Amino acid sequence: MQRKRPIKTLERVLSKAGIGSRTEARKWIAEGRVRVNGHVITNPDEWIDLERDRVAFDGKPLRKTERTYLLLYKPKGYLTTYSDPQGRPTIYDLLPDRDRYLFPVGRLDLETSGLLILTNDTAFAERLTNPDFKVPKTYLVKASKVLTDDQLERLRQGVGLRDGMTRPAIVNRVAANKFEITITEGRNRQVRRMVEALDAKVLKLVRVAIGPIRIGNLQIGKARKLAAAEIKSLM
Ligand code: URA
Repeated sequence: MQRKRPIKTLERVLSKAGIGSRTEARKWIAEGRVRVNGHVITNPDEWIDLERDRVAFDGKPLRKTERTYLLLYKPKGYLTTYSDPQGRPTIYDLLPDRDRYLFPVGRLDLETSGLLILTNDTAFAERLTNPDFKVPKTYLVKASKVLTDDQLERLRQGVGLRDGMTRPAIVNRVAANKFEITITEGRNRQVRRMVEALDAKVLKLVRVAIGPIRIGNLQIGKARKLAAAEIKSLM
C-alpha cells in the first residue's frame, strides 16, 4: 500500500508542532516570523511536505516538540471550549499560559465536573475518542430519585436512545440515589440521556475515571501531568 505523504498547511504544521494554537500560528505567519526552505511565507494555507520542506519559526528549525498530556479536574460551570461568545469561564481559564495550546480529548458538559485529558498529541486523542477502542469512562451519578435494581440493570444492558441502543455498561450502586456507571462510548450527553430514558434526571455528574486513571487526590480546578505509565495504560 502506498504511504500517504505528510502534506499539511503551514498553519497546521505549526500548531501540530505544539508551539501554539492555529489562531496564534496564523498570526505568526502573517507577521513574517515563519520561513519555509529559507523564504518567509505569509500564507497560512501554503502546502507543506513534511518530508521535504524545512520550516523555521523565529529562525529556529521546527523540531518535533515534546508531547504533553495533562489531567484536569474540571469544575462544573466551565465550558470545554477555547472561548465563549457569552464570556462564560472555560477550561483554559484554569491553565497557565504555557498550556493553552493543548486541546481537550472529548468534552464534558458545562454542568459536569471531573476528569478531562488535554494534549497536543492528535493521534492519541483520536484513539481515545474513537468508540472502536472502547476506552472506558466512569461517572458518578446522583439521580433525582432512587432507581430500582431493575432500572440499573437496564442501564447495564443498554437503553434505547434516539441515536440507537447504548452499549453494555458497568453499573454499581454506591448510595440510594447514587451510582457509578462505566461506558465505552462518548455520545453527546450520554449519561444524562440514559438516566432520562428511565424517567429520572441527573442532579450531579462527575467523571471519576478515564480507563484506569481515577481522580485520586487531584484538587478540583487543578491539572497534573500524566505519568508515562498512565499514558501507556490508555493506549
Ligand atoms: N455524559 C453526559 O451526560 N455528560 C457528560 O459531560 C459526559 C457524559
